[in-house]
Amino acid sequence: MSQDTDHEANDGRVSAYDWVGGEAAVRTLVDRFYDLMDLEPAYAELRAVHGSTLGQARDKLFWFLCGWLGGPQHYTERFGHPRLRMRHMPFAIGIRERDQWLACMRQAMTECQLDPVLLERLDQAFFQTADWMRNR
Ligand code: HEM
Repeated sequence: MSQDTDHEANDGRVSAYDWVGGEAAVRTLVDRFYDLMDLEPAYAELRAVHGSTLGQARDKLFWFLCGWLGGPQHYTERFGHPRLRMRHMPFAIGIRERDQWLACMRQAMTECQLDPVLLERLDQAFFQTADWMRNR
């Protein structure tokens, strides 16, 4: 996560990870993200790119986001460098899939009541990452 998602707190700089609310809050956010992907017709094409179960995706996104937000590096400790674009190559990702991913994450962040300032910054950062993942 880049520095522009850090913010000034009472006693110095706090990571986006702390701002979100730490590990339990990241887990709640990721669980809501995949629950919505499963439930909402608006994300049906995004859901269809995924396998029949979302358990592995939940764990991996949770581990990844902890580190991406400036918290513990659970993902790289397990799998090494994320190489996200390469790892997404097996999945057909176009504008539609990108936009559904972003909308699903935005809804999850809203329902989890993230600080609106943080939400906007993360939304911009997610856009950069999701757009980079497009492969068709
Ligand atoms: C742009 C639209 C995106 C689509 C359609 C998409 C789709 C997928 C799919 C189908 C998987 C495999 C899940 C599984 O193993 O069961 C996956 C894995 C993953 N995605 Fe995405 N994704 C997108 C964007 C993103 C973004 C923006 C991030 C990070 C901010 C992200 C992070 C990850 C991570 C960390 C994994 C696990 C990679 C691994 O170790 O195999 N994805 N994604």
